[in-house]
Amino acid sequence: MEVTRDSAWATLTRYTTSESLLRHALAVEASTRFYARKLGEDEELWGCVALLHDFDYEMHPTLDKHPQDGAPILREEGYPEVVVDAVLSHAEHLEMPRDTPLKRTLFACDELSGFVHACGLVRPTGLDGLEPKSVKKKLKQPSFAAGVHRDEVYAGAELLGLELDEHIANVIAALQPIAGELGLRTAADAA
Ligand SMILES: [Fe+2]
Ligand SMILES: [Fe+2]
Repeated sequence: MEVTRDSAWATLTRYTTSESLLRHALAVEASTRFYARKLGEDEELWGCVALLHDFDYEMHPTLDKHPQDGAPILREEGYPEVVVDAVLSHAEHLEMPRDTPLKRTLFACDELSGFVHACGLVRPTGLDGLEPKSVKKKLKQPSFAAGVHRDEVYAGAELLGLELDEHIANVIAALQPIAGELGLRTAADAA
């Protein structure tokens, strides 16, 4: 099969109805695509992997099933192993090697995209004017977006070989163009 954004979106939405899960998929897609462009990689492929990484979470919300029980479904749908393997690799508990730039980027964008999204949701101007230093400050408040694993955020930046500030700035820039789809306000709304 040809892996296209349309096919990935069709698979995702066949198994996912929750708005917050769809927004998470879109946020991780935007960040992963940002890095694909930056690195001159296959943006369409990387974006599809990001869209699909949690496609089975609604039916498999526990780590004894997600994402490993989703993988056979992706294979059945005809996704190539490069997609399935990268999707599987985002899960810490499977302890798979993150041995490609795609796998490293997906892992690095997963938790941080969720966290930056959460930071934007509590600001009247959304992501506009959001500075990496205020994101870092919120990372140190355990009660804020408590579900985001801080250790994975820090490990992700390290895996990309980036300073945390730069990685955060990249994710903010990646999410800004889709602020509306993510339910975020913008400076224009606040004006
Ligand atoms: Fe996941
Ligand atoms: Fe995720």
